[in-house]
Amino acid sequence: MLVRTLYISRNSGPQTSTVTGSILKTALVFNKVHGITGVLCQGTGFFIQMLEGERSVVSSLYARILNDKRHKDVEIVSFEEIKDRKCKQWSMALIDLSDTDPMVVLQHPEFDPYAGGRDFLMQQIDDWIATGKPVQSPSN
Ligand SMILES: Cc1cc2nc3c(=O)[nH]c(=O)nc-3n(C[C@H](O)[C@H](O)[C@H](O)COP(=O)(O)O)c2cc1C
Repeated sequence: MLVRTLYISRNSGPQTSTVTGSILKTALVFNKVHGITGVLCQGTGFFIQMLEGERSVVSSLYARILNDKRHKDVEIVSFEEIKDRKCKQWSMALIDLSDTDPMVVLQHPEFDPYAGGRDFLMQQIDDWIATGKPVQSPSN
């Protein structure tokens, strides 16, 4: 049974490309082997991640992610059964929403994932995917 989960969290330390890079490195290896696909959005001080895969695999991965000290205030936005994946081609793509990103600064100057519900956040991710924001890692 395929599921998709979406959660938000805050960086527990300073947001650096080293931290995000090391998360992605682990994710690409594990996710590829275990049939997980998704996107990791790194904003200014926050993460939004979408994970897709078999329910048991997503559940146990989420439990590990929840306990990861590199972030805090983890909140599940949605966990739902799906027929099709949105992110077939990525075992984990990065969507970089740093504060220099014009889309975030101009269109969403006060973007706060904690203020948005499931539909709002899912729509944001769909828009970012549609406008080519996800960066596919070479080892993906
Ligand atoms: C925001 C965030 C997203 C993560 N995403 C994934 C992921 O998609 N896949 C993965 O295997 N690990 C991911 N991790 C890393 C896991 O939390 C964990 O470090 C990794 O699964 C290794 O687990 P272990 O140290 O218990 O062996 C993520 C961590 C964070 C902080």
